[in-house]
Amino acid sequence: MSGTSGAPRELKAGGGLSGQVRVPGDKSISHRALLFGAIAEGTTTIEGLLPAEDPISTAACLRAMGAEITPIANGQVITVQGVGLDGLQEPDSVLDCGNSGTTMRLMLGLLAGRDGRHFVLSGDDSLRRRPMQRVGQPLALMGAEVRGRDGGNLAPLAVQGRKLRGAVVGTPVASAQVKSALLLAALTADGPTTVIEPAHSRDHSERMLKAFGANLEVGGEMGRHISVRPGASLSGQQVVVPGDISSAAFWLVAGALVPGADLTVENVGLNPTRTGILEVLAQMGACIDVLNRRDVAGEPVGDLRVSHGPLKPFSFGEEIMPRLVDEVPILSVAACFCDGESRISGAAELRVKETDRLAVMARQLKLMGADIEEHDDGLTIRGGKSLHGAELDSETDHRVAMSLAIAAMMAEGDSSLARSEAAAVSYPTFWDELERLRR
Ligand code: S3P
Repeated sequence: MSGTSGAPRELKAGGGLSGQVRVPGDKSISHRALLFGAIAEGTTTIEGLLPAEDPISTAACLRAMGAEITPIANGQVITVQGVGLDGLQEPDSVLDCGNSGTTMRLMLGLLAGRDGRHFVLSGDDSLRRRPMQRVGQPLALMGAEVRGRDGGNLAPLAVQGRKLRGAVVGTPVASAQVKSALLLAALTADGPTTVIEPAHSRDHSERMLKAFGANLEVGGEMGRHISVRPGASLSGQQVVVPGDISSAAFWLVAGALVPGADLTVENVGLNPTRTGILEVLAQMGACIDVLNRRDVAGEPVGDLRVSHGPLKPFSFGEEIMPRLVDEVPILSVAACFCDGESRISGAAELRVKETDRLAVMARQLKLMGADIEEHDDGLTIRGGKSLHGAELDSETDHRVAMSLAIAAMMAEGDSSLARSEAAAVSYPTFWDELERLRR
């Protein structure tokens, strides 16, 4: 979040929760639709694009390089006029990625192969602290030249576009951002590229690049080897973006926790590389039904009905992490309200998100009286004691803001939340929806 902060938001404790909610478009799919549309030939239309700060950052960067993108607003179908695989122009100023790690990392891959052109990428205070070498290092194996502070790890980053070579590249972490950057670079390399991940991360790029006409094959154990043959031009598509399961997660946990709650979250993306939250909620014994399973533009979608019921503590580790990495903050809230000890491990990646989410969630929930212990790679939470209202702070992190909102609802006594506007990074209507569903 870019530094601004109003008065703390009052968060009332208690109240019911019922009705239907349609969460905004998937953030990961929204970024990709804009990016791939910009380098395709012809027009891409995007229905359901997330009208939030992060995709707006991606669109602004692409516009600065010549792609025409209609204004991003709620309920609008967005049109992108593609400039073709090599049509992005050198921008005359710094590309501002705002708070968005996905924008910066995917842009690095997209721009590294624009031979002879120069680009500078920067972002807000949070993004300028996040590690970028995880993209720069494997890109360097393809001949990319990316420089920055801390030996090339920290933005502002300068990219000197080069003709890249195809290569077999292993990624240092199971990260869809790193993988996607390499796949974008591979599109214009001088030979085939294979990206090998240590574990299978979300596969929206693979699905969508194929739909746009890229010559891409997925193989290896659990789809961890992705190969791209350069040369195929991309052609504009009609993309329909499903609702974001990472935004639905706040309602799923709230619906399971709040006494008497009954919520239906409609049109949620159910890509199996993203549904770890449903696996953990099942482990907890939450009452969740998946209704109207369907396929929309190459992604599985369904409606999720959740109602309140007794919950058990959970334990999960590294294996599931790529499927629920963004849901750890809200799951740490869930753990506070079930009897017994919950354990999250293998979650060190949380420390390099928009904030250090393990430290921030532990710090904020402790202010409410939670029994929560921080480890290098996770949290231990002894739940079942009631939490009290407190003066909370999102510490500028959107998912922390929304997770604390649900915790505050379950507490005894009211709370306040500083920097609550952070939610607009991924879910600008969250606060209005919370008020509506509580009525
Ligand atoms: C994203 C991948 C994940 C996730 C982020 C969005 C993406 O990050 O946390 O919110 O769109 O590719 P990592 O690739 O760092 O795991």
